[in-house]
Amino acid sequence: MVSFVRRGTRLQGKQLAAWQRLAGRYLIDVPRGSAATSVDPTVRFDAATVFGRRAPLVVEIGSGLGDAVVAAAVAAPEHDFLAVDVYRPGLSDLMRKADRAGAVNIRVIEANAPDVFRTLLASGSVDEVWTFFPDPWPKKRHHKRRLVSPAFAELVVGVLRPGGRWRLATDWQEYAEQMRDTLDAVSGLAPANDGPDGFAPRFPGRIATGFERKGIAAGRVIRDLTYERR
Ligand SMILES: C[S@@+](CC[C@H](N)C(=O)[O-])C[C@H]1O[C@@H](n2cnc3c(N)ncnc32)[C@H](O)[C@@H]1O
Repeated sequence: MVSFVRRGTRLQGKQLAAWQRLAGRYLIDVPRGSAATSVDPTVRFDAATVFGRRAPLVVEIGSGLGDAVVAAAVAAPEHDFLAVDVYRPGLSDLMRKADRAGAVNIRVIEANAPDVFRTLLASGSVDEVWTFFPDPWPKKRHHKRRLVSPAFAELVVGVLRPGGRWRLATDWQEYAEQMRDTLDAVSGLAPANDGPDGFAPRFPGRIATGFERKGIAAGRVIRDLTYERR
């Protein structure tokens, strides 16, 4: 069961041109396993080789149109950023934004996040994992598709270094509560949710994306959550 329904992957116009021009610089072209968004389990990601230096590594899951991760990469040139999404048009936009901003500390992977976390990333190699506005799958019968689950949390715990952080945000109150219940029960994670209503204060490194603005316009409250790898 995956947390997404993959819509068209064919790019056109500006998005196709950006992909062709920029994939060589930004895209990690991972060898696949059995599915188009899978990752060959024998392959490992080596940040020092990819970025040509050793720097704290932030991995964003579900980068969407790339606004948050590109802004963060520009604001923190001393960190490296890896954006993971299955939405090719979004990754193309992200690369265009990164190029326009002159960001050299960012790479993208087009793959299913659990596959990336299960084998591609080495254990203890990541400083922060970000999951901002994961698809809420609001219908009860679809809850099983939600990305944040006990099994996924164990994969995140596996790649985070001790003291590393998992930052999450959602505009879906019931999903926020489910995330908190799920992650509070993970022994490898210590909650740092010391803000309003038992959630985390807004993470200042997270700029507002279109998804957040839509949620606010619809009257929803934005919840941040933060966990630290024990
Ligand atoms: C609701 S959007 C939020 C995008 C962005 N974080 C923002 O705040 O604007 C969720 C994103 O997660 C991606 N996604 C969902 N499941 C995924 C998975 N298993 N692996 C990688 N990306 C995934 C979707 O393709 C989509 O781009």
